[in-house]
Amino acid sequence: MLPETLIWLLNAALVLAQSRQQVALNSFLSLNTQSLSSSSFLLPSASNLSISVALCSGNLGSATTRFFVTNASTTVDPGPQGGTDVFEIDVGNGLGIFSGTFPNGGILAVDKGDESLSFQIGASDNGPLLETLETLPLFGDSTANQVLLFSPPFDPPSISDPSFPNYTLPIPGLDAPSPPSSSPNFTLVIAPTSASTPLTSLQQTACMISSQTSSGRIANQSLWLRDSDGWRTQWILEGLNPQTNYTAYVVQDSTKLSGPIYFTTKTPAFDCPLVASLPYCPKISYAIPLATPQTDLSVYDSRSIPSSISDPLIGYLRNFTKSLSTFACGRDYYSPLQTCADCQREYQTWLCTISFPRCGEASPSASASSRSLQRRNGDQAVLAVPALASQSKGDPSRNSNFPAFGSSYQLLLPCIETCFAADRACPSFLGFGCPDVNYNANVSYAVGFIDKIKTTKERSGLTGAAQDRYGNVWCNSGGGDPL
Ligand SMILES: *[C@@H]1O[C@H](CO)[C@@H](O)[C@H](O)[C@H]1NC(C)=O
Ligand SMILES: *[C@@H]1O[C@H](CO)[C@@H](O)[C@H](O)[C@H]1NC(C)=O
Ligand SMILES: *[C@@H]1O[C@H](CO)[C@@H](O)[C@H](O)[C@H]1NC(C)=O
Ligand SMILES: *[C@@H]1O[C@H](CO)[C@@H](O)[C@H](O)[C@H]1NC(C)=O
Ligand SMILES: *[C@@H]1O[C@H](CO)[C@@H](O)[C@H](O)[C@H]1NC(C)=O
Ligand SMILES: *[C@@H]1O[C@H](CO)[C@@H](O)[C@H](O)[C@H]1NC(C)=O
Ligand SMILES: *[C@@H]1O[C@H](CO)[C@@H](O)[C@H](O)[C@H]1NC(C)=O
Ligand SMILES: *[C@@H]1O[C@H](CO)[C@@H](O)[C@H](O)[C@H]1NC(C)=O
Repeated sequence: MLPETLIWLLNAALVLAQSRQQVALNSFLSLNTQSLSSSSFLLPSASNLSISVALCSGNLGSATTRFFVTNASTTVDPGPQGGTDVFEIDVGNGLGIFSGTFPNGGILAVDKGDESLSFQIGASDNGPLLETLETLPLFGDSTANQVLLFSPPFDPPSISDPSFPNYTLPIPGLDAPSPPSSSPNFTLVIAPTSASTPLTSLQQTACMISSQTSSGRIANQSLWLRDSDGWRTQWILEGLNPQTNYTAYVVQDSTKLSGPIYFTTKTPAFDCPLVASLPYCPKISYAIPLATPQTDLSVYDSRSIPSSISDPLIGYLRNFTKSLSTFACGRDYYSPLQTCADCQREYQTWLCTISFPRCGEASPSASASSRSLQRRNGDQAVLAVPALASQSKGDPSRNSNFPAFGSSYQLLLPCIETCFAADRACPSFLGFGCPDVNYNANVSYAVGFIDKIKTTKERSGLTGAAQDRYGNVWCNSGGGDPL
């Protein structure tokens, strides 16, 4: 005779088999362990099916509910007892993914724990439906109570460099390209890193994070083509607290999670306003030493930037492009690696970086130890303080077209790598040159942060990058250095 429990299990399996809900291909279900009509689900058949399970409630690691999947032809629920082609989906970080071949469909079973748990299950034949994105959101810059943030990129522009005999370089001008007609639906969620329940302590899933209240007010949300990585949603947030470390996530289409990144707001004394959305300098999105504009947003864009700053800059770009075009671009080569279009791009990045001086601030609350970082090569931790130069009230600006700023401020020096990149990319007849790192380059540039001086190994410098995901910004790369 069969033991009673086994009979019960068999009966349960038969009953459940009738009432199992089907997960349709390329869709997901939102469920709760308290209100399941059946604790197992039928999965569609596919040659490479990705099953994703996202936990939508509770703290990381708090769930005792387990998820089992089988791709065998069976009517028995998979479970902790195992069996042929029975797999557990590990939801340790809140998200679990299983990919495999499901020739005859399969079954996903929920082995309920003690808690009331909200969760989602998705099935898809083109990659997981619920997932964590590898690309992070991008921090532009902050003031005491505002921040400029960007979603991960999408829709990279098709860059087809011009070719001989019609090697026409576009003249950078005043018009921004028009945004794509459809875009992912990105939502931003930020909260103080030191909140009583930090976002990072929750299940790391899109459904969990997007259920949280976000700090600040979105003052403007627009699509912006920063660089060749593609379009991004650009947010200008207001109403943040000064001198606070924030955690930021971006949720794409309610199903995909990007982040976290961290950033800090400046002290109340910081009075440089932000600038963004400049078609001729699309990567420039940071605080500049210019009187706060009297516009609704108090953020500079191409409409409010004084023409005494933008006109000469556009003039330089045009004249440079004209001089560059005197070279037989695309027919003769000055380098096996670089083209005239590369030269134009790098020159533009460099020109924008030095034309828009950037304000910075040493992270005031961060202790020496939290500002230090572990070198990737395993060297002992080094202390990396941002490359700041103190400017007194009334000092002439580094860009003579900027009026002197009305208060003292800290200038965040441009990373010298932006200059080297233009130097490398451009033909020598243009006479472009960078200051000598052995002499006084460190007066006008941040030297040795990204690349080590006198080595050719890239990113071997003190920090290896202009900024990191933890809110440290060491030098001004003109936005050319997304993570
Ligand atoms: C089930 O998936 C596993 C892992 O992908 C695979 O090795 C196995 O062959 C699959 N079983 C069937 C019946 O397709
Ligand atoms: C199945 O899909 C996953 C997710 O897209 C992918 O990582 C994996 O390589 C695919 N497997 C096969 C055998 O194609
Ligand atoms: C040269 O290329 C530009 C930009 O791609 C295009 O607008 C122009 O019509 C082309 N001219 C000729 C003669 O093909
Ligand atoms: C985008 O997502 C948010 C939050 O999930 C939702 O409220 C909004 O309606 C969505 N917008 C569009 C255009 O789908
Ligand atoms: C948001 O910013 C974009 C780009 O600067 C601008 O075109 C748009 O008018 C702004 N929207 C609002 C409501 O200010
Ligand atoms: C661009 O070149 C023209 C003609 O050579 C010159 O008049 C003008 O001053 C130049 N513009 C800038 C910003 O250098
Ligand atoms: C620049 O470097 C020189 C020697 O390498 C050093 O003596 C000087 O203090 C540095 N100046 C600044 C502003 O860091
Ligand atoms: C912000 O908080 C995170 C998480 O605690 C930390 O790793 C990071 O160093 C902090 N950033 C700054 C600039 O203090």
